[in-house]
Amino acid sequence: MSTDHCDTPLHADYYADESVFFTADVIENVKVAQDTWRVRFRCPEMAAKCKPGQFIMLKINDRDDPLIGRPLAVFDITADQQGVPTDLDAVYLVKGNLTTRLVDVVAGQQLDVWGPLGNGFLPQPTRHLIMVAGGIGQTPFVTLAREYLGLAAYGRECPRAEKVTLCYGARSADLLAGVDTFEAVEGLDVRLCTDDGSRGHDGLVTELLEQVLAEDKQAHGSNEGARIVCCGPEPMMQAVAGVCQQWEVPCQVSLETPMACGIGICFTCVAKVLQDDGSWDYKRTCVEGPVFDAAKIVWD
Ligand SMILES: Cc1cc2nc3c(=O)[nH]c(=O)nc-3n(C[C@H](O)[C@H](O)[C@H](O)COP(=O)(O)OP(=O)(O)OC[C@H]3O[C@@H](n4cnc5c(N)ncnc54)[C@H](O)[C@@H]3O)c2cc1C
Ligand code: FES
Repeated sequence: MSTDHCDTPLHADYYADESVFFTADVIENVKVAQDTWRVRFRCPEMAAKCKPGQFIMLKINDRDDPLIGRPLAVFDITADQQGVPTDLDAVYLVKGNLTTRLVDVVAGQQLDVWGPLGNGFLPQPTRHLIMVAGGIGQTPFVTLAREYLGLAAYGRECPRAEKVTLCYGARSADLLAGVDTFEAVEGLDVRLCTDDGSRGHDGLVTELLEQVLAEDKQAHGSNEGARIVCCGPEPMMQAVAGVCQQWEVPCQVSLETPMACGIGICFTCVAKVLQDDGSWDYKRTCVEGPVFDAAKIVWD
């Protein structure tokens, strides 16, 4: 819903007006990497509304621990044989209260899910979209890659990029999750790296990014038209933002701040964001993000 009419300082463009609450049947819940699972659940109404980079809040139905849902990015949207979106996939790292219990959920059980939430990645003219992911931060990028390669439309127009590259790093090969899904995206340039050299480039994802930017500059004379989107642990996103500043390439980060309500009420999820006058203010990641201009984030 447009909030142009609303001039309260607390207004946000991505309140949960468009979101729906669903009790969704689990279709499957499978291990995809070390401590990492992919859960697929049926929620056609929500699947039809999801845009790349948006997230959902999820909890196990009839369980009150945790009492509130946890934010997870929409990893994939699958459709029936007629092409009607039916299911959502989330890929999660086993970490705490919810995710340690979620691994035991089997097909036929139910999840409480509300979404889609947040701004996601808004379509922008881009010659070369470079997606940089660290750890579990690859989850918002499958649908985004398909959209910019013209392989899928998620209810909106998106200008096609000439090239889309994924730079994806993890500590070791067994923690890389969903690589087969990315490799199945036709035309997507997938570059992997690991801290221990067990798969792909032996080193940091920022090194991969600089390689890709150097190749891009050599091929085109400049990085004009290249754009970075990034998701992962905060120190990694800060490092990527630094590389982008150095190479003068625009960068957006998708923040993964802890959240409680997910709908703009509790202020658990705030990040420090620079204002036009040079001062910073707190912005709620759930309704004003999770995607922000990296140059505007005040990293602590
Ligand atoms: C927009 C968004 C999208 C996300 N997408 C994904 C995703 O696709 N896959 C995925 O695995 N995770 C994702 N996360 C992170 C996920 O929501 C948290 O890791 C969540 O806390 C896991 O729930 P839990 O109950 O298992 O762990 P909890 O019991 O909530 O927490 C376990 C530990 O992690 C800490 N913690 C909680 N949240 C965070 C956080 N965001 N960053 C760092 N530490 C945290 C807690 O302080 C605690 O120590 C996303 C977060 C956001 C905001
Ligand atoms: S999680 Fe409550 S305001 Fe963002």
